[in-house]
Amino acid sequence: MTRSRTCAPDPLRRSRAAAGTVALVGFYREHVLPRLVDVTCGGDRMEGWRRRATEGLEGAVVEIGFGSGANLPLLPHEVDTVYAVEPSAVARSRSEHRPRHGGLEVRHVGFEGASLPLEDHSCDAALTTFTLCTVPAVEQALAELRRVVRPGGRLHFLEHGLAPDEGVRRWQRRLEPAQLRLAGGCHLTRDIPELLVDAGFELDAVEARYASGPKAWTWFTVGTALNPAR
Ligand SMILES: C[S@@+](CC[C@H](N)C(=O)[O-])C[C@H]1O[C@@H](n2cnc3c(N)ncnc32)[C@H](O)[C@@H]1O
Repeated sequence: MTRSRTCAPDPLRRSRAAAGTVALVGFYREHVLPRLVDVTCGGDRMEGWRRRATEGLEGAVVEIGFGSGANLPLLPHEVDTVYAVEPSAVARSRSEHRPRHGGLEVRHVGFEGASLPLEDHSCDAALTTFTLCTVPAVEQALAELRRVVRPGGRLHFLEHGLAPDEGVRRWQRRLEPAQLRLAGGCHLTRDIPELLVDAGFELDAVEARYASGPKAWTWFTVGTALNPAR
C-alpha cells in the first residue's frame, strides 16, 4: 500500500498552531505576569522603597499602572481617594485583597495611562511605582499626569531605569529585547529623571542608587517631582 505524502505545509495546522501561540501569550500576559510582578516588585525587600515613594501623599491621588495595589497598605491616612488606572483585570481583582486604611476609596477609572478620564487639575498628586518603564506612550502619560495634577502638586515615584555605569548600561541594552517580551513591555534603558524633566516636572527630593539584586534591573530612582504652574 502506498501512502500519499505532501511537503506542502498544512494551512489549517499552521493557523491552529498560530492561534495556540496567541492564546498562550495572552494567558501569560493576563494571568502569569501580574503574579510575577507581585513577586519581583513586592515583598518586604521593596517595602522601604515604597514607603519612601508614598510618604507625604494626601487628598486625591491618581496612580497609573496601579497593578494589584501593592502601594495601598502604605498610603497615608491623609489620602482619601485613589484613581486607579490599570489595564490588567487580574491585577485589578487581586487589589481587592490588599489591606488599606478605612477612609480610603479606590476608584478604577481607566486602563491607559496615556489617556486619563479625569478633569484638569482634579488630583492633588500622582503616584507611579515600576510603571514608567512599561507604559508604551510614556511621554504622553507624563503629559496627562501634568494635566490632571493641580499646579503645585507632586508626582511621587519609584522606578528602575538606565544605570549610570557604562558596563551596566551595556547589559541593559543587551537584555532589553528579552525583557520587553517576558516582562510585558518593561524597558531597562529608560532614563526616568530625564523623562520627568522633559515632561516639565521639577525634580525636588530624589534619591538614586542600586537596590539589592542584579544591577541591570536595580538602578532605582525614588522621590517626588513638582508640577509647576505652566
Ligand atoms: C511592573 S508593573 C507595576 C505594578 C505596580 N505599580 C507595582 O508597583 O507593583 C507595571 C504595571 O503597568 C501596567 N501598565 C502597562 N501598560 C499600561 C498603560 N498603558 N497604562 C497604564 N498602566 C499600564 C501593567 O499592567 C502593570 O500592572
